[in-house]
Amino acid sequence: MRATATAQPNIALIKYWGKRDTELNLPAVGSISITLSELFTRMTVAFDTALPVDELLINDEKNDKLLPRLSHALDIAAGANRPRARITSECNFPIAAGLASSASSFAAIVVAASAAIGIDRPVGELANLAGRASGSAARSLYGGFVELENSGDRVVVRELLPADAWSLDVVVAVTATGPKPVGSTEAMESSRRTSPFYDRWVSDQPADLASARDAIASQDFAALAAIAEHNCLKMHSVMWSSRPPIVYWNDATLACLQTIRELQSDGIDVFFTIDAGPQVKAVCDKAATATVEAALRETDGVQDILHSGLGAGARLE
Ligand code: PMV
Repeated sequence: MRATATAQPNIALIKYWGKRDTELNLPAVGSISITLSELFTRMTVAFDTALPVDELLINDEKNDKLLPRLSHALDIAAGANRPRARITSECNFPIAAGLASSASSFAAIVVAASAAIGIDRPVGELANLAGRASGSAARSLYGGFVELENSGDRVVVRELLPADAWSLDVVVAVTATGPKPVGSTEAMESSRRTSPFYDRWVSDQPADLASARDAIASQDFAALAAIAEHNCLKMHSVMWSSRPPIVYWNDATLACLQTIRELQSDGIDVFFTIDAGPQVKAVCDKAATATVEAALRETDGVQDILHSGLGAGARLE
C-alpha cells in the first residue's frame, strides 16, 4: 500500500503545444525531449483506508494547490474507488515555474501509485497514464532522447538515443521563480481556439520531428540546434498570436537569448529552448558547459543557474 518512485524532468526540443482530445489529454502533435539527470522529484504514495481525504506534503510543507491534480493522477493510476492517500514529494528545483516540474511529478506519482496499489504495469502503459495527467510527463518514463508519437487513442513513447550516447548538458538560466501566469492546459486551449498560426503549427510538426530524429541519429549538433530553436520560436509565436496573447518571457529571457547568440558566434556548440515559463534552457556540448554557465550567470536578470546532464526514466526506489 506504499511505494516511492523517482522521476526526472524532461525538456522538449520539439515541443508539444495543443491538445487533440481534452478528455483523454492527448496531444495534437508529437514531440521529442531529453530527460535530465540532476533535477528530480521523489514521490511516496501511501494508501490508507483510514484517511478521509488525500494529503500532500511537498518538501515538508502542506500543499493544497497541487493536490487536486495529483489526486486525479491517483484516480488514473489506482481507480476512483481507491483508498485515500498520503503523498509526500521531494523536489530539488522550483515548481510551477516552467521547469517541467509537472512532468517529473506526474511520472513519479503514476509509478509509485501503481506499485502501492499492487499493479505491475509495463513502462508503455505507465507512460500513457502519466500522459493523461500531464502530456509531457509521458516522456519522463524514459531516459535520454525520447520521442512521443500519437497513435489512435494512445501515445507511443520510445527512447531514440540512450542518455550516455551523446555527451550533452543543459544549463538552465532561472530568470524568475514565481508560478507562471497561465497554466499550460488553459494556454494551449486558448492557442487552439484563437491563434491564426495554430493549424500551421500542427501541420508542420511531422517535418520538424523528422529533422530532429535525423539530427539525433547522426549526432549532428548544428542540425539539432537549428531545428530545436526554430520549433521553440514557432511555439512561442503561436502563444504570442493567441488572444489574449500568452507571453511567458521577461527581459532576462531575451538577454539570455542574446548571450547564447554571442556564444554561437564565438563557435561554441550551444542552442536555446524555452517552455511555458521565462527560464532559458541552453543545451550544449559538455566541453562547453563551464563557458555557457559563466556567460549566462553574468547576463542581466539571471537569478540562478542549474545544470544537468541527460538521465534515466522514472523508476521505483
Ligand atoms: O505537459 P504540460 O501540460 O505541462 O505541457 C508542456 C508544454 C511545454 O513544456 C511548453 C512543451 C513540452 O513539450 O514540454
